[in-house]
Amino acid sequence: MTYRVVQWATGGVGKSAIAAIARHPELELVGCWVHSADKDGRDVGELLGGEPMGVVATTDAAALCELEADCVVYSPLLPDKQQVLALLRSGKNVVTPMGWFRPTDRDADLALAAREAGVTLHGTGIGPGGITDLFPLALSVMTSAVTFVRAEEFSDMRDYEAPDVLRHIMRFGATPEHARSGPMLKILGGGFIQSLRLILDGMGFDTDAEIVTTHEVAVATAGIDSPIGIIEPGEVAAQRFQWDAVIGGVAVARIAVNWLMGEENLDPPWTLGSAGERYEVAVEGSPSALMTFTGFNSGTPGETTPGIVATANHLVNSIPYVCRAEPGIETYLDLPLMTGRAHPDFATRK
Ligand SMILES: NC(=O)c1ccc[n+]([C@@H]2O[C@H](COP(=O)([O-])OP(=O)(O)OC[C@H]3O[C@@H](n4cnc5c(N)ncnc54)[C@H](OP(=O)(O)O)[C@@H]3O)[C@@H](O)[C@H]2O)c1
Repeated sequence: MTYRVVQWATGGVGKSAIAAIARHPELELVGCWVHSADKDGRDVGELLGGEPMGVVATTDAAALCELEADCVVYSPLLPDKQQVLALLRSGKNVVTPMGWFRPTDRDADLALAAREAGVTLHGTGIGPGGITDLFPLALSVMTSAVTFVRAEEFSDMRDYEAPDVLRHIMRFGATPEHARSGPMLKILGGGFIQSLRLILDGMGFDTDAEIVTTHEVAVATAGIDSPIGIIEPGEVAAQRFQWDAVIGGVAVARIAVNWLMGEENLDPPWTLGSAGERYEVAVEGSPSALMTFTGFNSGTPGETTPGIVATANHLVNSIPYVCRAEPGIETYLDLPLMTGRAHPDFATRK
C-alpha cells in the first residue's frame, strides 16, 4: 500500500522530508503547502534545486484540505492549532515536530477532532522527540529501579548558519540580562516538558513532578568569531538551559542543552568536554547506562544540519505507523517500534 502525503512548508525540515518521502517505498508526495508567495505555483522538485517532481507547491491551505491524502508532515515556522484542527477534520493524519509529543488537557479538542475523523496526530523529531524521550524510554528497558534519566545536547553554535535566530531569538551577542529575559526557555520548554512527562509516564514516576528550569550564560573574554559577527567581551557567547523533573526535592529526569560559540575565551570557561559535540542519553539504576550520539550536530557547510535531516526522517518514517494507529493523539508509548526503510536500490546493488 502507498500512503499519499502532503508536505506543509518547505524550510529545512520540509525540504528534507520531501527528499525522504521520495526515497520511502510506501509513500508518495501528492501536495505541498508553502508560506512564501514566491514559491506558490512552483514545482516542488525545483524548489529543492532538483528535477521536477510533478507536484506543485501552493499557498492555498483550503485546497490541500480538499485533496485526497493520508497524512500531512506539518512543519511550518510556527504551529497554528486551527490549521492542525482543519487538517485532522479533513480526514488526514498529521505528523509534526512542533508539539503533541505528549498531549495535555489543552489538546482535548484536537484529540476529539482526530477521533471523530478517524485519524491520528503524532509529535516527533530529534529533540523534542528521539533524543529527549524515545531513546531514554527505550534505553530504560535495560535497567531496573530507575532513579534518574538525562538527555543532553552539546553543540558548537558556530556551525549554525541562522544569524537572525542566533541573535534575536537565542540572544547570542546580547548582555547577560537581555539573554536571560529572552524567549528560549519558554520556546524550548514547551516541547521538553512534554518529553519529561512522557518519560515520567513511561517509567511510572509521579507525573505531578515539579518542573524546575535554569538558564546560565557564559560571556566572551575576548572577541569570538561567530555567524553573527564578532561577539565582543562581556557579550553572551554560550548558554546552558536545563529542565528538571523534581519529586520530593530530588531530580528524577533532566533535559539540558549546552550551546557554545567554540571553547575558547569563555567566562566561565565552559567546554564541550573531551567527547566534543554530541547528544547523550543516560539512565541511572541497576545497571546505569549511557548512550552517546554523534553525527547529528554539525554537518557540511551550506547543507542542512544533520539533526534537521534526522528530524525529517523521523517524521517521514513514522507515517505508515501513524496511518495504521488508533485515532486520537498517539505518543511513542502508544505506537509500535518504528524503523527506517532500506535504500531504494538496495536489492539491486552489488
Ligand atoms: N522536534 C524537533 O526535534 C525539531 C527539530 C527541528 C525543527 N523543529 C521545528 O520544526 C519547525 C520547522 O523547522 P525548520 O527548520 O524547517 O524551519 P525553517 O527552515 O525556518 O522553515 C520554516 C518554514 O515555515 C514557513 N514559514 C515562514 N514564515 C512563516 C510564518 N509566519 N507562518 C507559517 N509558516 C512560515 C516557510 O515555508 P516556505 O519556505 O515553504 O514558504 C519556512 O521555510 C520549527 O518550528 C522548528 O522549531 C523541531
